[in-house]
Amino acid sequence: MKDELKAVEREAIREIKSAKDKDALEALRVKYLGRKGVLTELFKKMGEVPPAEKAEVGKLVNSVKASVAGALDDGLKGSSGAEEALAEKIDVTLPGRFSMPGKIHPITKTIGEISDIFISLGFRVVEGPEIETEHYNFEALNIPLEHPSRDAFDTFYVKSRSGKYLLRSHTSPVQARFMEKNKPPFSIIVPGKVYRPDATDASHSFMFHQIEGLVVGEDIKFSELKGALTIFAKQMFGPKTKMRLRPSFFPFTEPSAEVDISCSVCGGEGQKCSVCGGKGWLEILGAGMVNPKVFQKVGYDPEKVTGFAFGMGVERIAMLKYGINDIRLFYENDSRFLKQF
Ligand code: DAH
Repeated sequence: MKDELKAVEREAIREIKSAKDKDALEALRVKYLGRKGVLTELFKKMGEVPPAEKAEVGKLVNSVKASVAGALDDGLKGSSGAEEALAEKIDVTLPGRFSMPGKIHPITKTIGEISDIFISLGFRVVEGPEIETEHYNFEALNIPLEHPSRDAFDTFYVKSRSGKYLLRSHTSPVQARFMEKNKPPFSIIVPGKVYRPDATDASHSFMFHQIEGLVVGEDIKFSELKGALTIFAKQMFGPKTKMRLRPSFFPFTEPSAEVDISCSVCGGEGQKCSVCGGKGWLEILGAGMVNPKVFQKVGYDPEKVTGFAFGMGVERIAMLKYGINDIRLFYENDSRFLKQF
């Protein structure tokens, strides 16, 4: 009987170890420990055991039962992980799933860089609506009816029963909106999207970004405009950057200027420079002293306050700063382009 028990134990453990899955283990549990199982049947034969050996054989039966049950439990624990993996068809050799971490878009980054420079000069950031009225986009800025940008083909008009609206063609309307609600002195910059029905090519887009600047107070001078823009140009494009102002015209400033910086690529030296075309200068923005007519329209007294304004294209600044030669790259969302910044 003792030998028989030991043989059963050995055989059971061997079978349990080579069991392939949960079902096989369950079958072995029934085979050995079930109501009609091998060990149960052996236990029934206890009556045949001579009385002197009964206690010993009893103990042995219990220890064999325990060791078979233990082996079955261990088998179940060990098999479950591998078995589930098989059931779910997990291929542990496949590379893991990962999401590409996002990055700040170069336009957002450039707006941030420009804003930081002006914030350090005491400006604060203000925003305005992208859907505008003709009044703020044109009239408030002294842009006359015959001005080409007011032509239906030069501006995106929005049909609406509540009035005539358009997608703003520049950030300048926020000048008038802000002045109507605030008293000078103040220095503000206004970043935002603007829209023009331009055919898209390497340097044009129907939507782009501008940053407007407006400083109003008593006795604000042209020299302060030049000073602020010089600091901006040097901080944005490097300390060696030179700046020049050319006389120009904008209806909302008088006098007006176009502002150039020395070419950041060739430093003004390159005769064949593809960025400045060998001219050595790059136009970066328009500026001027606020036209007294603009002040009058918002109820300011042009005898008491003066101010300067400027407006720049963010894409153009970013293209010059980072050497980007096609504006469309900003809007294509190609991660190979975007991850470089
Ligand atoms: N609004 C002008 C444009 O979109 C840019 C501009 C020029 C803004 C001169 C100004 C300024 O504030 O003074 O072309």
